[in-house]
Amino acid sequence: MEETLKRIAVIGGDGTGPEVVAEALKCLKAVSDKVDFKYETENFNWGGDLFLKTGEILPGDAVDTLRKFDAILLGAIGHPDVKPGILEKGILLKLRFALDQYINLRPVKLYKGVKTPLANKGPEDIDFIVVRENTEGLYTGSGGFMKKGTPDEIAVQDSINTRKGVERCLRFAFEIARKRNKDRTVTLCGKTNVLTYAWDLWERAFHEIGEADYPDIKRDYAHVDATCMWMVKNPEWFDVIVTDNMFGDIITDLGAVIQGGMGVAAGGNLNPEGVSMFEPIGGSAPKYTGTGKINPIASILSAQMMLDQLGETRGAEILEKACVDVISVKMESMDAGKMGMTTSEVGDSVVEAIERL
Ligand code: IPM
Ligand code: MN
Repeated sequence: MEETLKRIAVIGGDGTGPEVVAEALKCLKAVSDKVDFKYETENFNWGGDLFLKTGEILPGDAVDTLRKFDAILLGAIGHPDVKPGILEKGILLKLRFALDQYINLRPVKLYKGVKTPLANKGPEDIDFIVVRENTEGLYTGSGGFMKKGTPDEIAVQDSINTRKGVERCLRFAFEIARKRNKDRTVTLCGKTNVLTYAWDLWERAFHEIGEADYPDIKRDYAHVDATCMWMVKNPEWFDVIVTDNMFGDIITDLGAVIQGGMGVAAGGNLNPEGVSMFEPIGGSAPKYTGTGKINPIASILSAQMMLDQLGETRGAEILEKACVDVISVKMESMDAGKMGMTTSEVGDSVVEAIERL
């Protein structure tokens, strides 16, 4: 059968973003030679530098341009000379919303040889995945000020939860629990004891959908504060965690740390029916720009998730194995500047491992 050519948009972004993406692209090339995955890339230099030069955050046709691609590989967004919020909202959140990437999928997996700050926990204990709703909740920008700047000022930030948005997120979580076939359990992470409107909707939908369409999947519930506690104390209890946008943002930084840090944590903004965007969970780490100290593994693993999502299962397997090889045998640490190798040496080592496999 003739392989179709995949088109990948590459947005290096700010700080160390372009450096880590360059390593991910090296690895993608090596994988493609191995498995006959055919693709082409196109670079977009959107980010803080362009904004400072032109005053434009994203060109008007950016979203329509990206719609024509099969996937997007993103480095990082966030520039020290641009006020926090402008680029994050104007690029990252804008693309997530406009491309309706309603799932933010963030695996929390401790690989062999990687140090976790959790005492007495190993790779067999830390292996779950967070399904974060990615287009609603507190992130929609709904709200406003009244009497701004006065002593009577009011600031409102609305959490938007639609039945449709909640339902598609829950269904995705149930499906992935089936696919993983680990404990076949989905834990709803919420706050039903305080946020009694939003989480009432989530909880009702969770049980209705679970009972009707996923009777083979166990349903569990934990408040978000308790989830944080269990993630530290008993991470082995989790298989799939499904949660809203804000809670998902918070608990996945904790997840990143228990899996070995921002250097290894990857994620995907998914629109299962459209164009998805893959990125490390960590930020642009501007202080390391150009120093060769940043760990590109998170970016390489985000490319791995991209291969999987594009249906290139074998390529994704090979890339994951190669990363594990390098992580567990060659790298001294996952932390920036302590890897025992430079950013590009990590990429080169993964390429070598791919060639050996
Ligand atoms: C993340 C980031 C973003 C978020 C920021 C940069 C807008 O923290 O991807 O987790 O809050 O979603
Ligand atoms: Mn975050």
